[in-house]
Amino acid sequence: MRIKLVELQESDLLYVKEIYDYYTEHTTSVYFLSPISVEDLKSFIPINDEKYRSYIICTETGEKCGFCYYSRFKPREAYNVSVEVTIYLHPDYTGKGYGKEALKIIEKIIRKNGFKTIIALVDSENHGSIRMFEEAEYTRSAHLKEVAEKFNKKLDVMFYQKILSF
Ligand SMILES: CC(C)(COP(=O)(O)OP(=O)(O)OC[C@H]1O[C@@H](n2cnc3c(N)ncnc32)[C@H](O)[C@@H]1OP(=O)(O)O)[C@@H](O)C(=O)NCCC(=O)NCCS
Repeated sequence: MRIKLVELQESDLLYVKEIYDYYTEHTTSVYFLSPISVEDLKSFIPINDEKYRSYIICTETGEKCGFCYYSRFKPREAYNVSVEVTIYLHPDYTGKGYGKEALKIIEKIIRKNGFKTIIALVDSENHGSIRMFEEAEYTRSAHLKEVAEKFNKKLDVMFYQKILSF
């Protein structure tokens, strides 16, 4: 592996914000419509959480190149067996295979922690992300049409899923 995952700290949230804000402003890969505050990030990025984890993705030379985390899929208790995974690379580091590698590593961690299903929500035009999940053998289990709007465009979201067998 050319990358490693380092536990994300509260002091990394400005870096996370910078990346989210870039994709918010320029793409439909994230459904925020305006820049996110660090306070809002704290409400959904797990830090010092017992069950869910967040990481900074670092290259082999130690530069930060993105972040990833797995978090609660839905609030009801019966969803305890599932997680939602999220991966964002800094725009300077996309298309180099780092996303694929980060997904492999975080999947191992999720598996080791006993979860049974990994879910990823992907905008239907996010070809890089679709390719990454399909290559990692995630199955497209739902395609919800016109559930969001951004840049005056109706957006479809797709649910990708991997059921972990032990
Ligand atoms: C999605 C993302 C994590 C993928 O990571 P990445 O390192 O750029 O992707 P990889 O280089 O590992 O490529 C995975 C595969 O997708 C392909 N791919 C990458 N970008 C692509 C694009 N824009 N269109 C089509 N295919 C693409 C690669 O060629 C590769 O396929 P291959 O192995 O057959 O060559 C990264 O591009 C990213 O952070 N994008 C912006 C944020 C985002 O969309 N996050 C996911 C939200 S669901």
